[in-house]
Amino acid sequence: MTSPVIMRPMRAEDIPQVVAIDRESFPTPWSSRTYTFEIENNTTSQMVVLEVPAPPPGGSNGLGAMFRRLVHGDTPPETAIIGYGGCWLIAGEAHISTIAVHPAYRGKGLGELLLVGMLQRALNLGGEYSVLEVRVSNEQAQALYRKYEYAIVGRRPGYYRDNGEDAYLMEVRPLDAAYQQRLAERTRALRQRVDFVDQFTG
Ligand SMILES: CC(C)(COP(=O)(O)OP(=O)(O)OC[C@H]1O[C@@H](n2cnc3c(N)ncnc32)[C@H](O)[C@@H]1OP(=O)(O)O)[C@@H](O)C(=O)NCCC(=O)NCCS
Repeated sequence: MTSPVIMRPMRAEDIPQVVAIDRESFPTPWSSRTYTFEIENNTTSQMVVLEVPAPPPGGSNGLGAMFRRLVHGDTPPETAIIGYGGCWLIAGEAHISTIAVHPAYRGKGLGELLLVGMLQRALNLGGEYSVLEVRVSNEQAQALYRKYEYAIVGRRPGYYRDNGEDAYLMEVRPLDAAYQQRLAERTRALRQRVDFVDQFTG
């Protein structure tokens, strides 16, 4: 990635690309209507995207391009959404509702950037602790959450309807000044790896 990654709030025009990543990332993806609701109606919801000024992977030919034309018509956007996340902030609880990175961009620190962005925004808005659910089989995501000090605090049997898999409930608490400092240190380390512009947490 030669240009910086822009981290900014999700907008309505991002939804087709977000839904495309969602479908590649989850067995039970959210619908466009759900994203519209989260952006326009759910005042507790903080939705974030990562954007790059380049076409999404797949070039101008082939299946990827055909799919993009189906999603966007003949004038695809000049920027690409490569990851997104969501956080519900209710009475001090920052509940990570979703997080995903486009498969072609995984393993480059972008999932971490999304999580950092959501935690920092939650802290700025008075978040006191953070929770999330994760499939017991999703070791990659659990490793990401552990890196940000989430610990398993419960197990929800049969939480996922597609295959009846259990969820771990993970939590980091408290999001206090000491945590804020560690988060700032990790964000500085992440900057060595990812060139990004933050238009989300300020
Ligand atoms: C989970 C997900 C968002 C991580 O995004 P990513 O950009 O690939 O992750 P990053 O490159 O930022 O990695 C951050 C940390 O995650 C963990 N991680 C990421 N990929 C991993 C892998 N293949 N194996 C083990 N740990 C991994 C590591 O702790 C890593 O830190 P490190 O680089 O210091 O080792 C991404 O894999 C994804 O979109 N998965 C599908 C959707 C999903 O499962 N979302 C979570 C739902 S609860």
